Amino acid sequence: MLATADPAFRDDVLKGLAQQPPAIPARWLYDERGSELFDAITRLPSYYPTRTETALLETVMSAIADRAGDGRAVIEFGAGSLTKTPILLKAIRPALYVPIDISGDYLRSSAAQLAEQMPTLAIHPVEANFGNVIELPAEAADHPRLGFFPGSTIGNFIPQSATDLLRHFRATLGAGSLLLIGMDRVKPVERLIEAYDDPEKVTAEFNLNLLHRINRELGSDIRVDAFCHEARWNDMMSRVEMHLVAIREIEFGIADRSFRFAEGQSIHTENSHKYGPRGGRMLLLAGGWTPLAEWTDPARDFALVLAEAQPERFAP
Ligand code: AVI
Repeated sequence: MLATADPAFRDDVLKGLAQQPPAIPARWLYDERGSELFDAITRLPSYYPTRTETALLETVMSAIADRAGDGRAVIEFGAGSLTKTPILLKAIRPALYVPIDISGDYLRSSAAQLAEQMPTLAIHPVEANFGNVIELPAEAADHPRLGFFPGSTIGNFIPQSATDLLRHFRATLGAGSLLLIGMDRVKPVERLIEAYDDPEKVTAEFNLNLLHRINRELGSDIRVDAFCHEARWNDMMSRVEMHLVAIREIEFGIADRSFRFAEGQSIHTENSHKYGPRGGRMLLLAGGWTPLAEWTDPARDFALVLAEAQPERFAP
């Protein structure tokens, strides 16, 4: 029996496979199995971003707390990680914490686990797509805000959408707010490729799970073994791309449509943009955020940037 198909998934898959070059939005990688696999990726030796950012947060948190001060409403864009979020919340002693996530179940279970760790913290989860401008709970109105967007998730948006997203964060939080954002840095290509094509093949499974999901939810018959995972560095766009490459000619049907892939043709499934220091800061400025301070680990693999939504001013 078919799992219930989300019509938006069906539309994105049918439209994405018909376009040239074929591409499916990365958000569909995260069904239950995909989320489990992503979790496993964050613990892989070659996937440096999670542990580097976590260690960096520990190191620089007192400097961040000095700038942010106590009593803020902390608004996290995403349900929150049980390792990273408490580092921030314990250091800055917020008035309340508002995690925003589109998945209500995930949001509720991570809020419940956080409440166990921090029983006195006021938590007000909001079930919403954080890509939209969001009305915050009334309790957040009387406090200065600090937005938190860790994980280098900003890198999964093409710069045009990343700019829109940052502008929406600004509209959600309001002028005068702060934003603490994690950004992965450009680094030698071999390291980037190893992080996205690990020897353990967990990222390959994560990427190929998208085809299993299409089969499961859209009732199709894709031979998953006809595709392989590939991570590519696109230097012009400063990003790692994930592709599913046909290793032989293959035909399959989804709904009433049929698709044919020649050997070597691929489905583009994810972008992970990497920013140099100035590029990252320019992105923030374009999104309405003025960088105030930036911290990196000793190897300069990953950056945390604190930015402020300053009132709009015309340049001289
Ligand atoms: C969620 N996101 C920040 C991850 C990244 O590094 O772009 C997703 C990921 N894809 C493959 N590995 C990790």
